[in-house]
Amino acid sequence: MLKVGFFSSQPYERPFFSDEHHPQLSIVHFEQRLSARTVTLCQGLDAVCVFVNDELDRTVLERLAVVGVRLVALRCAGFNNVDLDAARRLNIQVCRVPSYSPDAVAEHCVALMLTLSRKIHKAYNRVREDNFDLNGLLGFNLAGKTVGIVGFGQIGRSLAGILSGFGCRLLVTDPAPLPNQADIEQVEFDELLTHSDIISLHCPLTPDTHHLIDESAFSRMKDGVMLINTSRGALVDTRACIEALKRRKLGYLGLDVYEQEAGMFFEDRSDDIPLDDVFARLISFPNVVVTGHQGFFTQEALSEIASTTLENLAAFAEGAPPKHGL
Ligand code: NAI
Repeated sequence: MLKVGFFSSQPYERPFFSDEHHPQLSIVHFEQRLSARTVTLCQGLDAVCVFVNDELDRTVLERLAVVGVRLVALRCAGFNNVDLDAARRLNIQVCRVPSYSPDAVAEHCVALMLTLSRKIHKAYNRVREDNFDLNGLLGFNLAGKTVGIVGFGQIGRSLAGILSGFGCRLLVTDPAPLPNQADIEQVEFDELLTHSDIISLHCPLTPDTHHLIDESAFSRMKDGVMLINTSRGALVDTRACIEALKRRKLGYLGLDVYEQEAGMFFEDRSDDIPLDDVFARLISFPNVVVTGHQGFFTQEALSEIASTTLENLAAFAEGAPPKHGL
């Protein structure tokens, strides 16, 4: 029997992650995020199942190894929160869900783009107060606009498919070889920054991509550009974003992720005093829309995440390597 600690557990996940049909698994749910502070909860566990904001740094992994945890099963695609070198050294296996529904995230991107371009967030509030004035709601067409897609993996490709239907011109940058596709133009990052009306980020967070969008990147963009980030918060330097918004260089900002989201997102903080001044400033702009890391959050994606994660755990419980190891 593999005893699994399920960290950052949310009520909406529990029906999907039941060990009922997996007799070799015993899943214990913890609401807490896994971190150096909560790692003491792992006593007696064989594996931990974690999400995007759990902290699997060297210290935490060393303590996991001491209590006998042999597997870290990520129930997400990104793995920037795990020190893979330390895990290898400590003989802890790491697996993830490499693909679950790229369409879920790509569609959320388009939702952010259209919310911003047609000012739906403002219109929604106005109509609730019987205010049907159109002043200030003037939008723009997506058709004919140039969209720069940074990272042409699964989500980037799904987004390209949707935007191609909208009649957008698509510029793409990715260090990996790209398919020969008629509806995309492969360009250097600089050219993408200079020519795009909308820029959408779909590359992973690595030391190389940390603050990929900083003050210098903003200076090369068109005035009034729209930036969408549904990938990882630290791809964007938030303070530089605020300055670019103040200068009107950045005309629209749609975020599903935020640099300092750990400990804030996925929780109801509506009764707390806001302590993150940068975040408070960011959401004060009328041309900024932020969602709390919900790009993945569709029924289809959640059931895919659960079935792959349970498959990974069950394989490990039976002595086989997890299918989607890192
Ligand atoms: P993927 O691995 O299929 O594609 C990532 C692509 O980025 C690859 O083609 C890679 O070559 C490229 N890349 C790497 N470095 C780059 C750079 N410096 N510039 C341009 N391209 C670069 O990953 P996928 O599934 O498309 O996911 C992308 C990211 O989306 C993930 O890393 C994750 O952080 C994020 N994500 C966010 C979710 C959400 O709920 N908001 C849900 C799922 C993923």
